[in-house]
Amino acid sequence: MGRVQDKVAIVTGAASGVGKEDAILLAREGARVVLTDVNEELGRAVAKEIGDRALFVKHDIASEDGWIEVMKQTHEKFGGLDILVNNAAILAYGTIEDTTLELWQKVQRVNSDGYFLGCKHAFAAMKERGGGSIVNMSSMAGIGGVSSFCAYSASKGAVAALTRSIAAHARMNGIKIRCNSIHPDGIKTPMVFNLHSSMPKGAKSAVREKDAKQIMARFAEPTDIANLVLFLASDESRFIQGAEMRIDNGYLMWAD
Ligand SMILES: NC(=O)c1ccc[n+]([C@@H]2O[C@H](COP(=O)([O-])OP(=O)(O)OC[C@H]3O[C@@H](n4cnc5c(N)ncnc54)[C@H](O)[C@@H]3O)[C@@H](O)[C@H]2O)c1
Repeated sequence: MGRVQDKVAIVTGAASGVGKEDAILLAREGARVVLTDVNEELGRAVAKEIGDRALFVKHDIASEDGWIEVMKQTHEKFGGLDILVNNAAILAYGTIEDTTLELWQKVQRVNSDGYFLGCKHAFAAMKERGGGSIVNMSSMAGIGGVSSFCAYSASKGAVAALTRSIAAHARMNGIKIRCNSIHPDGIKTPMVFNLHSSMPKGAKSAVREKDAKQIMARFAEPTDIANLVLFLASDESRFIQGAEMRIDNGYLMWAD
């Protein structure tokens, strides 16, 4: 008997990094998993690796029509929804001084609008089912703020506040849907590996200026995050609601 045996989960951004690890672990623990991503080739490959308990749907989380289609296919294939892992996101370099409105809106569209849409459609599906668990991937950037990632930090702050609002609504109305956010420091995934190449020349960032190896040494593995996602998705965390779970190996604790 797995820890999420026969529950139905949607994991966005499941083609790589943390989302891939989440999907594989949830399936290994008995869930039936709908993997979504804009990257169709990699997403299909992960679903194939999982096997019969997986379905891949190509999906841009910023599109409401996309969410309607994902929910429809989830119902048709697996009969309902118990778990949503809102995981897909984009990272873009830019301080408050050099972030354009265009870049700001591009990031909010995916990282903020996309999470709102996921929560909205999942909440309705879970309510029909009688309950569920929503796990929203935020970041330490949403708590502390990062100079080089102004739009990203703001989007992750929005995810944390959205999470608390949903938890409050569920609790006030006696709806058995839990909603929690996860706040990692760095994780060894393509998002970070591709960062250097996507930064403009001359851009000031700690990631550039400090020893990259030293920074990466403090970063988590995707499995470290997936283990927490599994716990929050499962009934083991039934009393955890509206929590902001830092997963940073005590990074915030350095100051004294
Ligand atoms: N890597 C880190 O250091 C770090 C730190 C803190 C939080 N996070 C968060 O963890 C989550 C997972 O990030 P990751 O590091 O695995 O990144 P990643 O880039 O490896 O994976 C993100 C996935 O999301 C997909 N994606 C991007 N835009 C999409 C869209 N509009 N619709 C659907 N899919 C889309 C990508 O194709 C990719 O497969 C994100 O929410 C990220 O903000 C990451």
